[in-house]
Amino acid sequence: MQPTSSRGLSYDLTARALTLLTVLSSTCIVTAHQPSPPWQEPTGWPDRIIANFDADPARGFAVTWRTDSTVGTALLQVVRATPDARFDLKAETKKAKTEIVKLDQLTAPAGTAVRPFNQGSQAVHYHSVSLRGLEPDTLYAWRVRGRLGCWSEWFQTRTLGIDGPISFVYFGDAQNGIRSHWSRVIRAAHTVAGDAKFYLHAGDLVDKGDHDRDWAEWFAAGGHIHAQIPSVPVVGNHEYIPVFDEKSGKKRRVLTPLWRAQFTLPIVEELPEDLQEAVYALRCSQEVHLFVLNSAPSDFAAQAAWLDEQLETSDATWRIVTMHHPYFVPMHSNRLDDNAARIAAFTEVVNKHEVDLVIVGHIHTYMRGSNLQNTEPSRLAAGKPNDVKTVFVISSSGAKVGGQQSEAWIKDHVGDGKPETGLPNLSVDRVAGNTPMFQVIRIEGNRLEFKAHTAVGNVYDEFTVTKRDGRKEVTNGASAVGQTRLFENTGHYPGWQDLQ
Ligand SMILES: [Fe+2]
Repeated sequence: MQPTSSRGLSYDLTARALTLLTVLSSTCIVTAHQPSPPWQEPTGWPDRIIANFDADPARGFAVTWRTDSTVGTALLQVVRATPDARFDLKAETKKAKTEIVKLDQLTAPAGTAVRPFNQGSQAVHYHSVSLRGLEPDTLYAWRVRGRLGCWSEWFQTRTLGIDGPISFVYFGDAQNGIRSHWSRVIRAAHTVAGDAKFYLHAGDLVDKGDHDRDWAEWFAAGGHIHAQIPSVPVVGNHEYIPVFDEKSGKKRRVLTPLWRAQFTLPIVEELPEDLQEAVYALRCSQEVHLFVLNSAPSDFAAQAAWLDEQLETSDATWRIVTMHHPYFVPMHSNRLDDNAARIAAFTEVVNKHEVDLVIVGHIHTYMRGSNLQNTEPSRLAAGKPNDVKTVFVISSSGAKVGGQQSEAWIKDHVGDGKPETGLPNLSVDRVAGNTPMFQVIRIEGNRLEFKAHTAVGNVYDEFTVTKRDGRKEVTNGASAVGQTRLFENTGHYPGWQDLQ
């Protein structure tokens, strides 16, 4: 054997390392024909662990997790959290409900979707436990088990209070580059708003609702945050999938079966079965009532009637509506050609009850506007408050930013008061392009504070809504009048198709 000099050995190892790196990086480009990454594959250990609210959020929460299909009996342990080193000794053990999902043959009540993309993936088990009868505003420690001995770490989740201040985070579409790019947004939110009581995801959490890989990315990006802080997910159009309806012999679009497997959400008995766990209300406190709608189907009559009835009887100071589509922007807006049915269903109900805040996604841009009480122009630019009926916000948290969003494009697509929307007094007061964001909403008494943060944490937009003497007043914060971020004055944007 030839002796090798130390320099030659070093060069040889460097060259081999580079070759190995090249091979490794090329094998990580996952296609339909390549193996899934380890963070997607199910095992006997619990993964994709998430907390949701499925009933009264002051007195309980639900936990859902996944394992491979060898796990027949899954368990959850829960105990009131204490400072003791062995806080776990009095934990109560609960048996989970288990549901099998065959990823290569997703089934929905309306038919079966054969998805070649998931072929080769294993059947998986989703497990869930609903915790009820807990104490309000109380921290609980809990963990979940898959196969015998395979326990997750302990998580700590706080139930909501009966009243008092409350804050939550609202995200628009995560959708593309979820693990690679959206992860920094949810982690920034967790740093900025450490005391947020829940995270609201306003639809299009993923790009392809029937692709297990997309969901693997969403769960990987959020990691333990999804487990500790309850999520309030909203259905978007990308959570709908085509299925073959055997009765009619036609294709239909339905909510992906992975939605109800992966989340445990409130069931509203009076709504049609296909809207359950997609349309629901959460009484977040005495002061705050949140209404989650599904704007992805084409018929909205049942949920509009339900919303009208809910708003009629709600005595909360603050009523917030969320859905995915911005029904309040013109029909020619991005992919909103079918918006007439949404406008017909929701404009009158929201206007009639003067809903305080409507928060949505879908357009992949940022816009904040108000439905003014009168026909005078907005006074915010002059540093004065507006009297409003409803504040509307569109936002996006993902790296897909739509079109080349010049100020003219945004104004044309989302603002000011187009007659067909039924909101002729809509004033658009802050916009942004090329800027993924997350929003922190804090409510205390008669005051709602709203801050939109960029992914590096700074505040891009802020306003308060104050209720007094029967009036609702919007006031701008300092950052609301800074430079407008648009494609013209921000970094190059080559697209989102290459994100991974
Ligand atoms: Fe969308």
